[in-house]
Amino acid sequence: MSVAHYYETMEYGPAPEADGEARAWLKRHESTFGHFIGGAFAAPRDGKHLTTIEPATGKALAKIAQGSAADVEAAVSAARTAQPHWARLGGHGRARHLYALARMLQRHARLFAVLEAIDNGKPIRETRDLDVPLAARHFLYHAGWAQLQEREFADQVPIGVIGQIIPWNFPLLMLAWKIAPALAAGNTVVLKPAEFTSMTALLFSELAAEAGLPPGVLNVVTGDGATGALLVENPGVDKIAFTGSTEVGRLIRQTTAGSGKSLTLELGGKSPFIVFDDADLDGAVEGVVDAIWFNQGQVCCAGSRLLLQEGIAEDFRRRLIRRMETLRVGPPLDKAIDLGAIVAPVQLERIKALVETGVREGAEKYQAPGAIPSEGCFYPPTLLWNVHPSSTVAIEEIFGPVLVAMTFRTPDEAVMLANNTRYGLAASVWSETIGLALDIAPKLLAGVVWVNATNLFDASVGFGGYRESGFGREGGREGMYEYLKPKVWSGRKVRAKASPPVSSADTAGFGVPSIDRTAKLFVGGKQVRPDGNYSRAVLSPKGKHLGEVGDGNRKDIRNAVAAARSAEAWAKATAHNRAQILYYLAENLSARRDEFVRSIGAMTGVSSAKARAEVDAGIERLFSYGAWADKFEGSIHAPPLRGVALAMHEPVGVVGVACPDEAPLLAFISLVAPLIAMGNRVVAVPSEQHPLAATDFYQVLETSDVPAGVVNIVTGDREALVKVLAEHDDVDALWVFGSQEASVAAERLSVGNLKRTLVDHGLALDWHDRAASEGPILLRHSVQVKNIWIPYGD
Ligand code: NAI
Repeated sequence: MSVAHYYETMEYGPAPEADGEARAWLKRHESTFGHFIGGAFAAPRDGKHLTTIEPATGKALAKIAQGSAADVEAAVSAARTAQPHWARLGGHGRARHLYALARMLQRHARLFAVLEAIDNGKPIRETRDLDVPLAARHFLYHAGWAQLQEREFADQVPIGVIGQIIPWNFPLLMLAWKIAPALAAGNTVVLKPAEFTSMTALLFSELAAEAGLPPGVLNVVTGDGATGALLVENPGVDKIAFTGSTEVGRLIRQTTAGSGKSLTLELGGKSPFIVFDDADLDGAVEGVVDAIWFNQGQVCCAGSRLLLQEGIAEDFRRRLIRRMETLRVGPPLDKAIDLGAIVAPVQLERIKALVETGVREGAEKYQAPGAIPSEGCFYPPTLLWNVHPSSTVAIEEIFGPVLVAMTFRTPDEAVMLANNTRYGLAASVWSETIGLALDIAPKLLAGVVWVNATNLFDASVGFGGYRESGFGREGGREGMYEYLKPKVWSGRKVRAKASPPVSSADTAGFGVPSIDRTAKLFVGGKQVRPDGNYSRAVLSPKGKHLGEVGDGNRKDIRNAVAAARSAEAWAKATAHNRAQILYYLAENLSARRDEFVRSIGAMTGVSSAKARAEVDAGIERLFSYGAWADKFEGSIHAPPLRGVALAMHEPVGVVGVACPDEAPLLAFISLVAPLIAMGNRVVAVPSEQHPLAATDFYQVLETSDVPAGVVNIVTGDREALVKVLAEHDDVDALWVFGSQEASVAAERLSVGNLKRTLVDHGLALDWHDRAASEGPILLRHSVQVKNIWIPYGD
């Protein structure tokens, strides 16, 4: 075709990006790759390879090694050997390496962009303008945290060897999101890229070694899910960080349960894109293009559910269809195409099948009319109109260029529809009325909310989900904490199984409480009889009967969870109000100090001085959380994009808490107070052995204006009650202290709704040590960060 032809018709001509350098790199390796272990390529021990294809052509691209147990072991051991040296380099030393990695990415930006487009099928326009620059920004930003680490994270230490498993939708960018914070914090890494898209990870590791990254700091083991599973199981790995499907996330949660490995999961989504009738409609149409047709819709936070206010729905549909007519699907290396190829035939088939299901279930299908290449994995931009909220395509993550649309009448209905999903990754709100947009944002159950924008990312702004979209954050200060652990928590001893020793002081002089005391449970602000009408005896260390407490069962936990759920107003109470109530609790505990001292002494056998010290520490701790309630706030980020991001601390929700037997009052307060200070509601299972400290606390709660349902207490068999809490889908998080068995049960059984867990694995905490058991160390687990991006400035 001549230039004159294009001049006359104004059609797009081909604008291919040269791929010579990327092909030459492949050729240099004879298109066959080993793993990258200890600073060099290593052939797979059993010689097995997988063939990866080029999605745009369907042709074979390269052979990658299929990692075996021996390969994974070699990589983990290289990482283990390197870790102490890497940590000892210090923040500045690591900052220089991370800076060198950012510069390396910038130097080779075009090579990475082209290789990524070839390997994944995504348009060069995106890899060039987004994936590669953002990856470089991640290293630069985290070079900064490494530099400031000794000051800003002085009380933290690296976790050790991190196993990272990433998906195929943003191969290089996910690599950067994973390894930059991990390395900055002083950990070493074994990374398993997705089997469809391992090329840029291999190129990165090779060039990182050339840029001077010490051997063993970053190791890459390629292979499919079986290799990923081997990495998860490897005992030398201290933490797993995973991004991918919710299904595999669940499997990993189960495998790591009880292993002591920490875990973060970034999983799927079905994010709403809400357009109110006062929105800038053309702006919102462009937003939709970015929300669902960016990266062929293969984006975990894709705005895949379009919620339109009824009055503008038809108008919006017309504008959207007109815009769809202009979208171009074609070869990824063409600089003027909008959508490239779907990553693999299996994904293409999945998308086709889901769209057919949508149509069968009543949706009207519209597809952009432009031609799509006849070879390779391509799928046109698709709109499913009039989709019922309960239809499969409104519920399942399609992970393709398919938008489902439905309408709403009122803002409340919009929120209801938006939250009508098991996921909670992101949401986008469009309205020219700032009051409306900022009224909706806090009501959305999502880790990221974009106002009049969508799919904005930056290293300084944490990213991650609520609910079944996983737990943990990537980016920002909170992302650094995912790769660090408190110094005071490492190196603790496993607690002795036996009951605490009987002090020689025994109970003499304490005045044992009268024998007919029978404490009930505390549910919904009232003392209630246990459902089973059974009670448990509470004995002194010498076997003296001190009283009875209710023996709670499954039904009692269910009632307590329901009471906690309905105390939702607590989450919205002002921090000032919560602070006042915590001070009031302290005041009322102080008024009953002697009674608690006697009871603790009688139950645990500690001296009166020790019992007094425990009660006094409890009073002080309540004061501390009164102080923190309005001071543990979020922050504001200024990413290099138009706008600011408000990193808001939101409560996690309903949290189950199992308390240890040591320091029964102080530990109970130390766990419950940070949670309620941040607006959570609690179902607490107090010390199994010494529950009277908590049951005596009922009166303190009753006299301190704590609203009904905010703190619920169910006494009984700790492990049995923890299991019920773990399996309960309306419990958002579970903290278990005091038992290895209960810790394991909590992690394993919480897989249903992927609740966040904080467990002590039987390692005894010193509850009197403030650094170990008070303040940000627990407050950080009492909140989840919601990042709200709002337009700001120009
Ligand atoms: P996947 O979750 O199977 O793969 C992600 C990564 O996990 C890959 O590196 C894979 O090799 C590894 N993996 C697979 N099984 C594993 C196991 N048992 N243990 C450890 N690692 C394992 O995702 P897949 O199959 O590629 O895509 C399926 C669906 O998942 C997509 O259609 C999409 O709905 C969703 N997905 C979501 C992503 C997200 O970012 N939220 C990313 C990729 C997929």
